[in-house]
Amino acid sequence: MAANQVQLSLTHSTVIAQGLSSNMAGEEDSLTRDGGGIVDYARINGITLQAWSPFQKGFQDGVFIDSPDHPELNAELGRLAAKYGVTPTAIAVAWITRHPAGIQVVLGTTKPQRVADAAAGSDIPLTRGEWYGLIQAAGHSVP
Ligand SMILES: NC(=O)c1ccc[n+]([C@@H]2O[C@H](COP(=O)([O-])OP(=O)(O)OC[C@H]3O[C@@H](n4cnc5c(N)ncnc54)[C@H](OP(=O)(O)O)[C@@H]3O)[C@@H](O)[C@H]2O)c1
Repeated sequence: MAANQVQLSLTHSTVIAQGLSSNMAGEEDSLTRDGGGIVDYARINGITLQAWSPFQKGFQDGVFIDSPDHPELNAELGRLAAKYGVTPTAIAVAWITRHPAGIQVVLGTTKPQRVADAAAGSDIPLTRGEWYGLIQAAGHSVP
């Protein structure tokens, strides 16, 4: 298999967040919902992961960008967008592409401008602190 598509966004990040809370009893994120270790399996076997619904809050229930449901995350997206001179959309993409697994982003927008905004994110080398800060702002625990 050359590629595998998984649902992955900052707010629907279980395949990544489960590793941050591994073996932590009581932490919701420590539950494995993918059979266990799909990101590690893909990396070991040279399979490219592709992230679908990269901006959706959960399962097809709207985007988290500019959503009042995620004030802390949007504040952090806005802060980093200003720092790098891009849009919050680009930062949300950068969070996925910065992961060392080399994950590709499957966009669902029908707006050319949003495609351009998103594409700008793949060039942004978020620092580790910024990357972890984003998943924390999305509501996940970082040890
Ligand atoms: N392999 C699988 O199991 C699987 C499952 C689901 C989906 N997919 C693929 O993944 C693709 C992406 O999924 P998705 O469509 O859920 O992804 P998405 O890019 O997270 O969501 C796109 C949708 O959000 C809307 N949107 C509203 N505000 C937006 C903003 N600020 N930025 C970006 N989008 C905004 C878009 O509307 P506008 O058009 O107005 O921008 C569009 O309807 C799908 O098209 C499909 O091809 C694969």
